[in-house]
Amino acid sequence: MIRKDMKKNDFSTQFKWGAATSSFQIEGNIDTDGKLESIWDRFAKTPGKIKDMEHAKVACDHYNRWKEDFDLLENLGVNSYRFSISWPRIVQSDLKQTNQKGIEYYDKIVDDLLSRNIDPFVTLNHWDIPQEFQDRGGWVNRESIKYFLDYVDIITNKLGDRVKNWVTHNEPWIIAYLGYNEGTHAPGHKSLDKTLAVNHHLLLSHGLSVPIIRENSKNSQVGIALNLNPAYPASSSQADLEAAKLFDEYFNGWYLEPLYGKKYPKNIIKSWKDDGKLTKDLDFIQDNDFKIISEPTDFLGINYYSRAIIRCSKTEQHNNLPVEIFPGEKTKFDWEVFPQGLEELLVRINKDYSPKSIFITENGASYEDHNAQGMGDFNDIKRIQYIESHLDACKNAINEGVPLKGYFCWSLMDNFEWAEGLNHRFGLVHVDFETQKRIPKNSYKWYREFLVNGDSILNT
Ligand code: GCO
Repeated sequence: MIRKDMKKNDFSTQFKWGAATSSFQIEGNIDTDGKLESIWDRFAKTPGKIKDMEHAKVACDHYNRWKEDFDLLENLGVNSYRFSISWPRIVQSDLKQTNQKGIEYYDKIVDDLLSRNIDPFVTLNHWDIPQEFQDRGGWVNRESIKYFLDYVDIITNKLGDRVKNWVTHNEPWIIAYLGYNEGTHAPGHKSLDKTLAVNHHLLLSHGLSVPIIRENSKNSQVGIALNLNPAYPASSSQADLEAAKLFDEYFNGWYLEPLYGKKYPKNIIKSWKDDGKLTKDLDFIQDNDFKIISEPTDFLGINYYSRAIIRCSKTEQHNNLPVEIFPGEKTKFDWEVFPQGLEELLVRINKDYSPKSIFITENGASYEDHNAQGMGDFNDIKRIQYIESHLDACKNAINEGVPLKGYFCWSLMDNFEWAEGLNHRFGLVHVDFETQKRIPKNSYKWYREFLVNGDSILNT
């Protein structure tokens, strides 16, 4: 079957080709080898928080099966792998002393990746943080930032000689809004005031950790990964245009503006106040904070899945915030498939913020892996089309001058999808969660063909 005429040669020979995972979503073994309780362990235990009361006690059992998974990774033909470190494995309950066994685990997997010529891209905070940190105030509390910096110091000191690519935080928007405003992610709070403080302390801790990483890991590249969701107005009406701008401010601008030398966007703050959603000023901001937040980085990581189409909803009581409507083709998550949004986003970010370089740190799609009879069906043509069309968008953006240096497909394998439990499969590799059997899907074969033989044509 022939789809787009995509060639690996359309990209530079230096381009980083990878797949991504995160610790909590794949490792399981939540109290093995001295691992502390994480906020997600606590959240998953709380009735009603995770779909079908699923948990990540086993997940993909990657903590034990990592070699088998790295065989799959190596066979895939990637030159990079993005994964995250579980902070609760690295420290003891005082959040200061190191947990030797946890360190040894990551030490050996880094060595193993390098022996396979796979460059590790390490995320320091992919949401899996110690409950003890939360109990000491967590991200709401400015004083707690020091614990994160201690952890960053420990792990970058240990791995910094070999790991040369560091992502400080993954998706601060999700941590802050879903964790503290919607309450659908750990720790499950519902307060916009707290949300904004959490956001601020995440950004501040990002800026403060960059020099620590640079000191411990010479000649490394450091950045942050943002989930960006470009906003398109539902119509050309003034109200919809303004609503789309507001959405963009709170979803994208809230991070991009301060990271690239400006302050928090103003219109959305006014709108929250007018609405009565925000009850006080942003009194957690101190002099010099924006200077710290805008500490120069080497790359911007972008996690892109879809766009938002925004219609003004001012008529709804207590809600003049934008709402999203998705008219087009959707993935199982109901996210619209819209590769053009990625191209336009990349071009716009390059124009407005000029990051030194950009990586697509996540892009992928969740689809069912079984047919109508409930039998396994791994001919995931829709996932292939999704990835291929987004790579095509990347290629176009590069041709328009965007310094895009790499692409990480989310995800190497099916895994624990947070509040959705095991109900969404994003993997190139199917995981049978009962038997832990791994089965490469056709998307895996397609990506391998593309990476190893250079073109995207797979007879399926
Ligand atoms: C995120 C996370 C991943 C998710 C993926 C699919 O973007 O939410 O980084 O952990 O699993 O995005 O939702």
